[in-house]
Amino acid sequence: MAMVDKLRIVERAVATGAAVHPLPRDGAAPALIAVEQAGKRFAARGGAQAFSALEDVSMQIRQGEFVSILGPSGCGKSTLLRMVAGLVPCDDGRILLGAEPIGAPVPDIGVVFQTSNMLPWLTVGANIRLGAKLRNLPRAQVEERLPALLETLGLTAFADRYPHELSGGMRQRAAIGQILLLQPRVMLMDEPFGALDALTRDRLNVELLRIWQQSTLTVLLVTHSIHEAVFLSDRVLVMSERPGRVIHDVRIDLPRPRQPDQVKSDPAYGEYVAHLSRLMGVF
Ligand SMILES: Nc1ncnc2c1ncn2[C@@H]1O[C@H](COP(=O)(O)OP(=O)(O)O)[C@@H](O)[C@H]1O
Ligand SMILES: [Mg+2]
Repeated sequence: MAMVDKLRIVERAVATGAAVHPLPRDGAAPALIAVEQAGKRFAARGGAQAFSALEDVSMQIRQGEFVSILGPSGCGKSTLLRMVAGLVPCDDGRILLGAEPIGAPVPDIGVVFQTSNMLPWLTVGANIRLGAKLRNLPRAQVEERLPALLETLGLTAFADRYPHELSGGMRQRAAIGQILLLQPRVMLMDEPFGALDALTRDRLNVELLRIWQQSTLTVLLVTHSIHEAVFLSDRVLVMSERPGRVIHDVRIDLPRPRQPDQVKSDPAYGEYVAHLSRLMGVF
């Protein structure tokens, strides 16, 4: 076979996503998370009238999908994520995991916040184990999973160090490890790389994609970065100003697996970034 034909076949395999992610993520897959006309009100300070933070928010996330949420500051992204996590109740509507309404935190849904909340007096390994301990996961199971997880996250040599001995990027990796050790079906991430420098952020994006591709994990990520959302996601949801609603749902049809140099030199990438920038009112 001529070299050029071989290349085309490889390209086609990449374009169709074959063997890239174990789950179908197209319209045929059922929704794993369904947000149905959800609303949230907060009491204003000083006894003023309550205000609406979220109004009539609806969206569906399929199993195995990587979905990002973009929206102006204060539009309720963090509140929405906390509601999906079961940390904050809905005032209107409901949120389902499969067929079950989410009313409290459940083991199937893990959350990674912007700054990792590791305990400074415990080693990185002990911090990663802590979530599993709190959930009463059998110790043998934890010790069986941990070495491969530390390896995946590039933390093997740092398991006995303390959080202050790690870089910001490593601490966020450890925070991700804390969640992945529990093997949740869904990982919610609230601007997890927002406090990191650009280079570290790019590296962690690549690592996150690698982990996601090798698993059946569903990811819902809140980010400020249009570039990050396009690079990572199957779909990007755009929210309105407060009270937040989902006003655009943009499918990102870039081939996987995605490598930064390949993706960023693809004209379609630039078009998605420009399109979302316009939707966001950036230009
Ligand atoms: N616990 C709370 N009590 C009162 N107001 C809150 C609370 N949490 C969030 N808010 C308000 O709700 C709005 C949305 O906040 P948030 O979800 O943090 O937005 P985002 O993450 O999009 O920046 C903001 O006006 C914020 O001040
Ligand atoms: Mg926020």
